[in-house]
Parts: sequence; structure tokens; C-alpha cells
Amino acid sequence: MTYAAVYQSWKDDPEAFWMQAAEAIDWTEKPSKALFDDNAPLYEWYVDGKVNTCWNAVDRHVEAGRGDQTAIIYDSPITHTKHEITYSELQTRVASLAGALRAKGVEKGDRVLIYMPMVPEALEAMLACARIGAVHSVVFGGFAANELAVRIDDAQPKCIIAASCGLEPGRVVHYKPLLDGAIEQSDHEVDFCVIFQREQEVAHLEDGRDVDWHGFQYGVEPADCVPVEGNHPAYILYTSGTTGAPKGVVRPTAGHLVALNWTMKNIYNVDPGEVFWAASDVGWVVGHSYICYAPLITGNTTIVFEGKPVGTPDAGTFWRVISEHKVKSFFTAPTAFRAVKREDPKGEFVKKYDLSCLEQVYLAGERADPDTIEWAQDQLGVPVIDHWWQTETGYAIAANPLGIEKLPIKLGSPAVPMPGFDVQILDEAGHPVGPNELGAIAIKLPLPPGTLPTLWNAEDRFKKSYLQQLPGYYETGDAGMIDEDGYLYIMARTDDVINVAGHRLSTGAMEEVLAAHPDVAECAVIGVTDQLKGQLPMGFLCLNSGADRPHADVVAEVVKMVRSKIGPVAAFKLACVVDRLPKTRSGKILRGTMVKIADNEDFKMPATIDDPAILDEIRTALEAMGYAR
Ligand code: COA
Ligand code: AMP
Repeated sequence: MTYAAVYQSWKDDPEAFWMQAAEAIDWTEKPSKALFDDNAPLYEWYVDGKVNTCWNAVDRHVEAGRGDQTAIIYDSPITHTKHEITYSELQTRVASLAGALRAKGVEKGDRVLIYMPMVPEALEAMLACARIGAVHSVVFGGFAANELAVRIDDAQPKCIIAASCGLEPGRVVHYKPLLDGAIEQSDHEVDFCVIFQREQEVAHLEDGRDVDWHGFQYGVEPADCVPVEGNHPAYILYTSGTTGAPKGVVRPTAGHLVALNWTMKNIYNVDPGEVFWAASDVGWVVGHSYICYAPLITGNTTIVFEGKPVGTPDAGTFWRVISEHKVKSFFTAPTAFRAVKREDPKGEFVKKYDLSCLEQVYLAGERADPDTIEWAQDQLGVPVIDHWWQTETGYAIAANPLGIEKLPIKLGSPAVPMPGFDVQILDEAGHPVGPNELGAIAIKLPLPPGTLPTLWNAEDRFKKSYLQQLPGYYETGDAGMIDEDGYLYIMARTDDVINVAGHRLSTGAMEEVLAAHPDVAECAVIGVTDQLKGQLPMGFLCLNSGADRPHADVVAEVVKMVRSKIGPVAAFKLACVVDRLPKTRSGKILRGTMVKIADNEDFKMPATIDDPAILDEIRTALEAMGYAR
């Protein structure tokens, strides 16, 4: 079948399409139907089915006689460690961990926060939760204690599973003090913490609260898989929104299984037994879907890579891992390729490795610039596929589905909508616009299985953020267009979210931190273009009258504050003091205009600007920082 035929078959009969896709999943009780729309515009899928994610990701492969196949390859150039875990071993380890959690009172529906670096135990913790129907919420290691505390208060976990430390090149990330600080800051009290002690740093365990990962599993009964309802939350993953409070994206169990399983063959073109590698982090949605769940559900071998594209030890690391472990499909972020290309533009490292196993490469997380795609295609000699998705959807909205048909690649476009997604470009009044016309990218409801049904404990926020502006549609927050061949182009965000090295960050959250500095009267944070990371945050500070401290000191202090409040991953290093911020007459800060000046792009003077002269002051400040040129 061609892509067009598959897409049309979904459009003609979505119910039949998704019931057929559900056949690939092992159910304890099969669902009577796919879509449950009684509560529209809130939709759910496979609600009356009973199923377990861990069974589908682990046990069923062992039952089918594939227990000796490698499930996880751990490859850490930072610790110089490699090891493999078979499906049988994974089953034993996960059942034991799940049993120990259950013995300490964790039950179906309880939340468990996971704060782990890129080690196989992170996946085991996720799967152990899934095994007993507990709802995990993984927090990325690059966030600071405060972000962790916010998530503890929102998810109200019974327990936290953490490692003693993470490892960044040249630096140990002390997880335990961060964790202790977060627990101290949060109002919610956790019952206990499970600490995975790494040999690089053994942490102090708090008496009565902390238990050792291995010790607490001693002598416990391994847990069997607990079947859950189709709409039971598999996990909560927090992502940036417009304000400082992160949004808890809820992932429903059954739809997640069905949809992820569908993507592995149809989009990523891999079959059971083959090796799939997503070089991301378990703290992001890519890590959830394509390091942990999807490859395991399909019965692939997945790679847990603890390293960076460059510097661990060199720009050939990706190629070494691909060659050594026989990776067939590789997934990374454009920024990672830009980092490699910067160090090895001629691909000298590529030539050192036999990459004949590699058949295709996928990029996502941010706009893939044509230069980077062309460079990768030239070096690797395989299709390099841009695809577009969000934490909210959990898998690709638009892609080039190589497992169905290789469509022509158009540079700058993540290709075409996947079945389940009726993508439309709408004007401000909500009317569809013509081909090649810019507008808000919206998806006609219902969204397909596996996408977010709501936000954790925040149904009103869910409706307000995604459903209300354009009734009948899900608003993606991205702006772009569709060309005459139906190819999508993602151009910009319509909100205050920026994308730094493939990481989604809220400028609103950074502004909240800057505003808390005692000398800061008013501030704005914008995302400026960066050659390597795509975007970088930049802060503008107006100081209180009477604040006479050197500007450089205030700047240094706010940089430190963002690092300690949000985390190093915000990469907030650029800030300046200005007298005033450009605003409309109604007082709205003209952030978009400031971005255009910083990036040295043409812009139209906003008709509602209060005082155009302020823009000259902004330009001068930007020039002093090496921008606006
Ligand atoms: N734990 C703790 N700190 C972390 C971290 C983690 N898991 N991940 C990143 N950080 C820190 C880094 O150490 C760095 O700290 P520094 O300011 O002390 O140097 C800071 O956060 C910024 O990190 P990063 O954005 O990764 O920048 P970098 O300069 O260290 O590396 C790249 C640049 C391009 C190599 C890197 O951004 C990269 O690998 N990007 C790919 C991202 C990706 O795969 N995203 C997946 C989305 S699909
Ligand atoms: P996240 O939820 O962190 O995955 O971020 C999702 C956002 O990243 C999207 O809404 C887009 O703004 C951006 N994004 C992800 N993939 C792409 C892509 N292939 N092209 C352009 N932007 C992308």
C-alpha cells in the first residue's frame, strides 16, 4: 500500500483502522471499540480494554521464545562501560523492582517520580511502575531542585526513585543533594525514596526515608503484571507552557501501546530483533517513546547511551555506536548533528566506521535546517528524515513513513501527516487558509490514540491551552503552512515557548525567576537564533530606581538564579540591563520585535508601539552583546 492509500484508509474508517492496529497488542480483555467520544471535546481510546504495558514491552517477548535476545544495550563513553541486558534478564529485574515497590505500599494509580541519568535502571524503573499500574513521572536530570519540587507538589508521588548522581562530561551532577533540596522545598511528603547508588558517587541515605535500590529488593516476591483499563494513565510528563507552572501531559495506557507499536514499522522501518537507537534522554518525550517503550513493545534492541555527540570522546561517537551495535534506524536532534558537523565538517570520523548496517536517520525536536540534513545525507548516504511531534502527542504528527513508502524528501519540511492526524492551517478566525499560506497549525479533533487526553489535575488548563481558541481543533502552538503537495512546514511557535538544543523551555518561567531579583523592576526573555542550539534565551532587565549596583553584577546574579532555579539545561547566559522595554500602548511587551532586531531581520514597526525610540536603545544593547548585526 502507498502512504496515500494508508492515510485514506484511516480517513475513511478511523474506527476500523485503530481496531486493526490494536490487534498487534496483547490484551487481557479486548476493547469493544476504539474511540470513546461521549465526553467530547475530551476523547479517550480503548477505554473498556484491559492491558499491561510491561507485559507488552517485556514478558510477551520472553513467552514468545525471544528471552535471549538483547533488549537493552548500555553504552557509556563517559564511564567507559558497555553491557547488554536480555529480555529474560529485564523481566527478572523489573519484576523484582516492581515487587519491592509493591511491598513498600506502591499500588495501581500511585505516582512515582523518577530522577535518573541515562542508565538502564531508568528504563527498569519506568517498566516496574508500568508492571504494577503505578504512574511514573520522569524528571530530566538537567533541571534544578526547584523544578523537581514543583513536579513533586503537582504529581504528589508516593515515592521517588533516583540515582545518586548523573555524569556530564567533566562534572558529576550531584542528584542526591538536589533531590533532598526538592523534598525540603515541596509541600507534599513522599513516603520513601529508592536510591540507585552509582560507583562514581555514593550518596548519603536519609534514615527512615531512603532505601537502597538493591537492598530493598532483597527477599521480596517478584510482581506480576497488573492489567489496567485502557485509559489508565501510563505516565505524566511535564513540559513547558506559557507560564512558569509546567503542564503535566497525561499518557493513556492502551492508546500509547497501539500507536507506538504502529510507528515502529511504518515510520521507523524496523522489525522485531533489529536495533533501534534514539540518542535522546529518558527525561524527554523522545526518550519515553523511543528509548524505552516503542522499541521494547516491538521487540527491538534499544540503546541507552550515556554520552554527548561530541567530546565523549570525539565527534565519531555516534558512528562508533551505530557500527558496533548494528543500528538500523537512528534518531537524534538536529542540534546534535550541528555539533558533530562543526567539529568534523568533512566527515573524517564517518570514514573510520563501517556503517553499512544503518538504513535511515530521523531528526526531531526542533526545526531541521536544510544544511544539516544535506550534510548528514552526504556523509551517511542514507535518507535523513525530518519529522515533527510534541510531548503532547508522544509520536510523530508528520513524517516520511519509510516503512510504508519513501516519499520524496523536501528539505525544510517534516513531510506529511500520519494517519490519525488531520492537520490544517487556520487563520486567526479559525478558517482554513490555502496552500503555502501561513497560519496556526491545528489538528482536527479527535486526536489519535496515545495522545494526551488531558493535563494532570488540570482539565480547565487543558481546554484553555489547546481546545478553546479554535473550537473543534487541537491547537499545536506551532505556526506554519502546507504546500500544494500536502507537505507541512513548521515555522515558529505561536506562544512563549523556545527551543534550546531540542529542549523545550518557557521564557515565561525564566522571566518569573528574573523578576524575583531584588533590583529588577521589570524584565523580558526572548529566544534569539543560535547557530548550534537553534535558539538561546536572552534576558532584558530594567532595574528599580535607586538600584546602583554595577550592571554586570546584576547580570551575573540573574544568570546564576536561572541556573539554580530552572537548571543548567536552560542555558541562560545572555542578559543585559536596559532603561525601558518596548511596549504597545496597552502595555504588552513587544518580544517578537525584539527577536527580529536581535536576529537582524526586517520587521514592520508595530502600529501600536508606545515609543519607537526604545527600539534603538534595545538595538544598542544587543549590539554590545554581539547581536543585531
Ligand atoms: N543533567 C545535568 N546537566 C545537564 C544534563 C543532564 N542530563 N544535560 C545537559 N546538562 C547541562 C550541561 O552540562 C550544560 O551545562 P553547562 O552550562 O555547565 O555547560 C547545560 O546543561 C546545557 O546543556 P546542553 O544544552 O546539552 O549543551 P552543551 O553545550 O553541553 O552541549 C550539544 C551541546 C549540542 C552537544 C547538546 O545540546 C546536545 O547533545 N543536544 C542534543 C539534545 C537532544 O538530543 N535532545 C533531544 C530532544 S529530541
Ligand atoms: P517537545 O514537546 O519538547 O517535543 O517540543 C515540541 C515542539 O518542538 C514542537 O511544538 C515544535 O515547536 C518543535 N519541533 C519538534 N519537532 C520539530 C520539527 N521536526 N520541526 C520543527 N519544529 C519541531
